[in-house]
Amino acid sequence: MSLVETRKPMPRILVVDDNPGIAALMSQLLSMRGYEVVTVADAHEAEAEVRRQPPDLILSDVRMPGKSGYDLCRDLKDDPATRLIPFVLITGLSDGTERLRGIEAGADDFLNKPVLAEELAARVKSLLRMKEFTDELETADSVLCTLGLIVEGRDPYTEGHCERLAVHAADLGRHLGLDEDSVLALRRGGYLHDLGKIAVPDEILKKGSNLTPEEWKVMKLHPVTGEMICRPLKSLRLVLPIIRHHHEHMDGSGYPDGLRTGEIPLLPRILQVVDVYDALRTARPYKTALSHDLSAQTMRAKARQGLLDGELVNQFFAMLREKRNVA
Ligand SMILES: [Fe+2]
Repeated sequence: MSLVETRKPMPRILVVDDNPGIAALMSQLLSMRGYEVVTVADAHEAEAEVRRQPPDLILSDVRMPGKSGYDLCRDLKDDPATRLIPFVLITGLSDGTERLRGIEAGADDFLNKPVLAEELAARVKSLLRMKEFTDELETADSVLCTLGLIVEGRDPYTEGHCERLAVHAADLGRHLGLDEDSVLALRRGGYLHDLGKIAVPDEILKKGSNLTPEEWKVMKLHPVTGEMICRPLKSLRLVLPIIRHHHEHMDGSGYPDGLRTGEIPLLPRILQVVDVYDALRTARPYKTALSHDLSAQTMRAKARQGLLDGELVNQFFAMLREKRNVA
């Protein structure tokens, strides 16, 4: 038995209600069950509290002065940083249309006023269990991303590569108008695309160029190995094609599957463009760093040869131009 007892902190619940009597009653009911409770009177205060310290669950009234419970719910569910916090709408109406509005806003559950103590406890317990589960998945994600950085750290010449890739790939996804899930996948792809190099020995990894045919065979396994490591995590579903296909070429000369134009999914094509740019701009033991203009020329030539997606190369440089003008 461990001498140091590690205790999980009690879940924090945020209660949003403009009626101080109801807020106090809910706070009392939940505190009695050992939860930490914070009460606020409107959506504005709720947003400030979520920014200060994200709660594990939100119970919110629908009708409040200022922003409604629906709008608060919709805004939090639209934000990738807060969308996994379970949100319960408390409504005085058992009307179907009100519920539909809540579902459209992304609410995870509903409670009717007056709130019954037993029902409140049961709903809260089941939603917190779900939150714990999603937190564990999130933790598994970040463990893998950290592993990606450890792999990067084995090659001193690629320092910062993953972070730059994650930022640029997500920016390009946003520039192309992709949905938030795809943008998040591109960000994770920046960290995870080369995770499979964990199985490539140091002497091959650090050699960089002039690999023997046998060494190339080992190197070329990394997209498949990386995909295999990440496959059990459902949350990485959109990242898997990025990991597997980031070395495919439009003319079919890439690996591991020799896919051609039209067969390579969009997300790996995006990551590839960003990856090639970063590699060209960085000095390695066997090459110097190219200037921005020379990198652009080289990438356009690669696109003409059928190695990169020419349209995405154009979009990438258009995005960098825009960013420079904004800065
Ligand atoms: Fe790679």
